[in-house]
Amino acid sequence: MAKQPMTPPVPADMMPKHIAIIMDGNGRWAKKRGMPRTYGHIEGVKTFRKISRYALNIGVPYISFYVFSTENWNRPEDEVHQLMNLMRKQLMDARVFTEERTRLILLGDRSGFDEDIRNGISNLEEDSRDYENMTMGIAANYGSRHEITSAARELAQLVKEGRLQPEEITEDLISQHLYTKEMPDVDLLIRPGGEQRISNFLLWQCAYAEFYFCDTFWPDFDEKELDKAIIEFARRTRRFGGL
Ligand code: IPE
Ligand code: IPE
Ligand code: MG
Repeated sequence: MAKQPMTPPVPADMMPKHIAIIMDGNGRWAKKRGMPRTYGHIEGVKTFRKISRYALNIGVPYISFYVFSTENWNRPEDEVHQLMNLMRKQLMDARVFTEERTRLILLGDRSGFDEDIRNGISNLEEDSRDYENMTMGIAANYGSRHEITSAARELAQLVKEGRLQPEEITEDLISQHLYTKEMPDVDLLIRPGGEQRISNFLLWQCAYAEFYFCDTFWPDFDEKELDKAIIEFARRTRRFGGL
């Protein structure tokens, strides 16, 4: 399905450039229906597709989805296994992103995945490199602390090799060593599912993000809910520490 431009809920100049979404509440959504948690994850994937398509159509240039955290490995083996299989399936269905000309970037430590998933992700990133309609960050095996620690390690290595002076380490340089190096900072962070926390997601990139929480479980999140978050964002006054 190609891009089908739609009118955004607020004027284009008031739209957030980078929206980040913590897709939470799949398990509770399923439990409420007496179904296994995995059923919630399957429904959650449908919502992911719906929302990414809608974001593209209303002209959001950058969007990031939190798919699997570095802490999610602590879940029961069976659930982790099911989540990995869902990821495999999504990678196989990734043609839609080609049709939509969406660029995909993995935010996370790919070394944690099985080889077929790792290769699938790399191929997708490579094939979509020049797509210009929207850039989508997929945060999988992602943890902000892990990301910042890796950046610190890379910079320390450069200093050790004499290729970098400590005083040359700037905020910009640190940003350049994060998974999001090709994306701007987050403008709007959305967390459905009722929890009001950040759960190790994009800590550095959210320094001045506006936060939007709602109780809707992710599988029930829809276009109207995204519109509401964007309208709320446009109403906020961002001061960035100034007056
Ligand atoms: C989010 O939904 C998906 C992942 C973390 C993989 P949850 O699985 O956290 O669902 P709840 O929060 O337990 O309802
Ligand atoms: C955050 O949700 C991770 C993802 C949505 C992928 P969690 O459900 O893992 O977060 P906590 O445990 O409620 O903080
Ligand atoms: Mg959760």
